Amino acid sequence: MQNSSAIVIFGVTGDLTARKLMPALYHLDRNSRLPQPFFIIGFARRQWSDQILRQQLRQSIRIAEDTGGQETSLAFLQNCFYIQSDFQDWEGYRRLKQTLVEKQIVNVLYYFAAPPDAYLNILEGIKLAGLNHDFPGWVRVVIEKPYGRDLSSAMNLDQKVHEVFSEDQIFRIDHYLGKETVQNILVFRFANGIFEPLWNRRYIDHVQILMAETVGVGNRAGYYEQAGVIRDIFQNHLLQLLTLTAMEAPVAFTADAVRDEKIKVLQALRPYKGEDALINTFRGQYVSGVIDGKRVIGYKDEPGVAINSTTETFLAMRLFIDNWRWAGVPFYIRSGKRLPKSVTEIVIQYKQVPLSLFGWRNMAGDAPNLLILCIQPDEGITLTFGAKAPGPIHQIAPVNMSFDYVSTFGSEPPEAYERLLLDVMMGDATLFTRADEVEAAWRFTTNILEAWEQAGLKNLPVYEAGTWGPSGVDEFIQRDGRKWRNP
Ligand SMILES: NC(=O)c1ccc[n+]([C@@H]2O[C@H](COP(=O)([O-])OP(=O)(O)OC[C@H]3O[C@@H](n4cnc5c(N)ncnc54)[C@H](OP(=O)(O)O)[C@@H]3O)[C@@H](O)[C@H]2O)c1
Repeated sequence: MQNSSAIVIFGVTGDLTARKLMPALYHLDRNSRLPQPFFIIGFARRQWSDQILRQQLRQSIRIAEDTGGQETSLAFLQNCFYIQSDFQDWEGYRRLKQTLVEKQIVNVLYYFAAPPDAYLNILEGIKLAGLNHDFPGWVRVVIEKPYGRDLSSAMNLDQKVHEVFSEDQIFRIDHYLGKETVQNILVFRFANGIFEPLWNRRYIDHVQILMAETVGVGNRAGYYEQAGVIRDIFQNHLLQLLTLTAMEAPVAFTADAVRDEKIKVLQALRPYKGEDALINTFRGQYVSGVIDGKRVIGYKDEPGVAINSTTETFLAMRLFIDNWRWAGVPFYIRSGKRLPKSVTEIVIQYKQVPLSLFGWRNMAGDAPNLLILCIQPDEGITLTFGAKAPGPIHQIAPVNMSFDYVSTFGSEPPEAYERLLLDVMMGDATLFTRADEVEAAWRFTTNILEAWEQAGLKNLPVYEAGTWGPSGVDEFIQRDGRKWRNP
């Protein structure tokens, strides 16, 4: 990649740039993976100069890297420039274009690291200034989640984005797909001969996908009140994990072939409307409790949260994929804030043996065969099975066979943003969501949102911070003769 290239970050003074984008760019530079020369052009409102931008970016890299005061080479920051402008001020885009032309930029990547309600203005500015073409090389755009807040707003946004960019220029980012262990789901399934034959309704009893966080809503109440788990986590990250777990093998490992298979899973999801949506979902909200030995406040006491808020901070759901592979196999999804542990995992629970020879008590309930794909924090894969313990033949103990990413490969997996930024620059969209995928995910989710709205619950079931959700959530799964796996 030996062409003058630039990343234009709309929202360069914000949190995402400081915590994620700059450390990722720094790593790419350190590993000589950025095209040369490479420019970072920041766009935001604050009264910063080029110099201040460089200082701030240097600072954010130091914090993220925890360099222990050691000097890191940040020479690439000399190529950072700042455009101070409101997104609604078309003059700013003219200055941006002038900067790109002066630097003789060939390839340009626009990154929307801005509040979602600013996206339409940014698109308009890009279009008016002719920033979506007029470059000798490629022009691409990365758009952050949330991509819409329901089906109609997502479709509206998509229409506007397509007025400015073609689909092959658009990279809708879900950083979860940049995680090594998420990509490993596909490798595990499709690069090995022994698992795939067992990956279906004949052998699998059910699947659980858990994404738990110990953190509360923090200072994001303004956003979270409008989002809840369903928009913040379920519509994007959880449905993405579900599609990777359930999809058929693609005909090739190419962007469209992979995404063609993922969308089929979303299309096969049994849609929930009205009463069905209420029966198959379970919401909750945290109240004060203890996390890591410290008392934390309840959701309604968080600054910026309405006193009568009905925003869910916990969600459990039962899903069915109505196709030949998965007919009748429930997928149980759970996610929440202020849960006892921050962990993301996919658990495949296998059916019990047809006849219990060793008096193994309640094979399905107490010690089933589990395949656990841990996405974070301890990236790896574990298979649990029964082994004979020393002593009488009927003493069987559950044991594990484990693969641990760090001890096997000797290093932490790289940050998701690093991988994804590189993919965008290489033009590889495999790990980005396509328009039809976003639409299908929103179609499913919006039905549920509408059912919740019609039901008009005044109070959600509550759970103490530091517990695995409201008490009723156990019953939710026990009705099906199953139980949650709490790591
Ligand atoms: N933070 C994360 O970890 C994270 C994770 C996933 C997705 N996202 C998504 O990434 C996007 C950015 O999030 P963030 O947390 O970085 O937000 P943020 O900290 O609030 O930053 C917003 C940025 O947009 C700029 N901005 C806002 N309104 C503007 C205007 N009218 N004109 C010019 N600049 C304007 C701000 O500039 P000034 O402050 O200088 O005005 C700031 O640079 C959002 O869509 C969010 O949903 C964030």
